[in-house]
Amino acid sequence: MVNIAVLGYGTVGSGVVEVINTNHKSINKRAGAEINIKYVLDLRDFPGDPVQEILVHDYEIIANDPEVDIVVEVMGGIEPAYTFVKRALEAGKSVCTSNKALVAKHGPELMEIARQKDINFLFEASCGGGIPIIRALNSSLTADEIDEITGILNGTTNYMLYKMSTEGSEFDAVLKEAQEKGYAEADPTADVEGYDACRKIAILSSLAYGKFLNYEEIYTEGITKVTPEDMEYAAELGMTVKLLATSRKVGNDSFYAMVAPFLLGKNSPLYSVNGVFNSVFVHGNVLGDAMFYGSGAGKLPTASAVVADVVDEAKHLHRNIMTNWTSRPLHLMELDQVAG
Ligand code: HSE
Repeated sequence: MVNIAVLGYGTVGSGVVEVINTNHKSINKRAGAEINIKYVLDLRDFPGDPVQEILVHDYEIIANDPEVDIVVEVMGGIEPAYTFVKRALEAGKSVCTSNKALVAKHGPELMEIARQKDINFLFEASCGGGIPIIRALNSSLTADEIDEITGILNGTTNYMLYKMSTEGSEFDAVLKEAQEKGYAEADPTADVEGYDACRKIAILSSLAYGKFLNYEEIYTEGITKVTPEDMEYAAELGMTVKLLATSRKVGNDSFYAMVAPFLLGKNSPLYSVNGVFNSVFVHGNVLGDAMFYGSGAGKLPTASAVVADVVDEAKHLHRNIMTNWTSRPLHLMELDQVAG
């Protein structure tokens, strides 16, 4: 039996419990062991929900229980997630997380602790919801020198832009809808200002280029200045507006990255990526082009990626599956240097 503790019973946490309960037979078979949810940590109570029986309010219970093999961090935000995750890894418990803010800020340190302890820190759900892009960059695409990643990496804003362009919806109303559907961050500023997409392109770039890209160095512009008139003009031109996150190699050891709204024509492969869907385009020097597409946010798609990490960790308990991401910094060129 492999015991897991789920930190946070919000949208993703409740999805993780649901996915494990729904697909328990096939999940256990693939994991080679019974995945048992021993604890769920949350400050709230959930009367009437069976989760109440395994609910704890104090992280110490999880941290001090040697029977917990895997900690699933789906609380979001930096603290207390960072402290909890670091303690778990130092105690020899593998961790999987959907927390892009945590991975973008502390990824190298947490991966290094996992490596030293011969356990794992996995984060498939941190980028692109249910799209298996982290594993792709970490294994399937490792024969390549990746020189470009461009994607629609935020479901909330893609949903908003789609609704604004097809139904003429107002910004605030459609943001509220995205929140109700469980797509948006607790603080939706991270979505609409582009910070969420910025952290995700930093994570993907760090994996692809093998050096740590500090998200704070990435030029980032969200969709708050996009107006219904902009959408109308775009439509008149036969184009659409998408929030893109991109990073490119522009010289031997030179890169640039940015997040901003772009006008896309029908010939762009990202033109038809609508609603909450995300898509990532990757170019490698020997592979050429590859595209990944799928549900980019929401309870079950994100939980699907989290549980896939749990299965992987259960299969590799006490054996580190290394990521090709080091703590050496990746320095970005300024955009005017690239243009000039
Ligand atoms: N708020 C994020 C999004 C959730 O809309 O894409 C998934 O990371």
